Amino acid sequence: TRNHELVPHKGFKLINGTHDPDDVDQIYNLEIRESDVFVVTYPKSGTIWMQQILLLLESKGDVTAFSKLNNSSNGDLIPWIELNGNRQAFITAPSPRLRVTHLQHQFMPSALGQKKGKVIYVARNPKDVLVSYFHFHKLANMLETPKDFNDFFEKFMRGDVFGCSWFHHIKTWYSRKDDMNMLFITYEEMIQDLESAVKKISLFLGKELTDEQLANVVKHSTFNNMRKIPQASYEQVPGDLLNHHQGRFMRKGTIGDWKNHFTVAQNERFDEVFYREMKDFPLSFIWD
Ligand code: PPS
Repeated sequence: TRNHELVPHKGFKLINGTHDPDDVDQIYNLEIRESDVFVVTYPKSGTIWMQQILLLLESKGDVTAFSKLNNSSNGDLIPWIELNGNRQAFITAPSPRLRVTHLQHQFMPSALGQKKGKVIYVARNPKDVLVSYFHFHKLANMLETPKDFNDFFEKFMRGDVFGCSWFHHIKTWYSRKDDMNMLFITYEEMIQDLESAVKKISLFLGKELTDEQLANVVKHSTFNNMRKIPQASYEQVPGDLLNHHQGRFMRKGTIGDWKNHFTVAQNERFDEVFYREMKDFPLSFIWD
């Protein structure tokens, strides 16, 4: 099997060589501490942004506290729980254990559903997710480079990508919201008012930062400032994982780039599927 091959596993698609299905199955049984925090995202919805914000909240806005550590990326400090080997490391890691995940909720530690630990779900409007995911497939060596945009568009709509369909991910996680200590936040609200978003996250995590410290968290997590920090912007991730010649992980960081990619026909088809899938979903999205 090729390395970027998708491996269907209980309604979810894992990446051959990147995830081990047996290991992923064991995540469910992990013991959870009150201080554990999981950031949950569908891919390309603000994961590394939240890594930077959480690290800054821990260091009370001191960006030098962790950016000078000898890590290639913030993902070493706030790892993906589902990556090979990371589950084992989680068990003995010191508190607070901060982790990110793209997994579906049924794989996640059952204790989260008994209000142990905390979950931050970051959602992004799916048209921009699709576009960001398309570009990421060219960059990421573990994912197959799409033939063209339309080819990827169809794969995304079918959920034939790492993970599951965007629609399924958000609906199932959101339906479990009240069973968990969950903060639901959107990429778009972070773009529109980062300061309020950071305050909301800080309050949810029970952090006590001064106004000045909070201002520093905001300052060092803007798109332009994060881009200047190689660990925060994933520019030092080894070349066998990310082909940095194909573009930047922190590509554009805007709302509405889908308008530069979707044809009128694609947009109509997307809206049709979105309406069918999301008509009972209580929240609306910001599209531009
Ligand atoms: S991944 O691969 O799933 O972990 O990717 P993820 O980090 O979830 O999403 C990457 C997109 O988030 C954008 N990003 C930001 N936007 C605005 N401000 C800040 N600070 C920021 N940090 C990351 C990043 O640019 C990707 O979106 P696109 O649209 O491709 O630019």
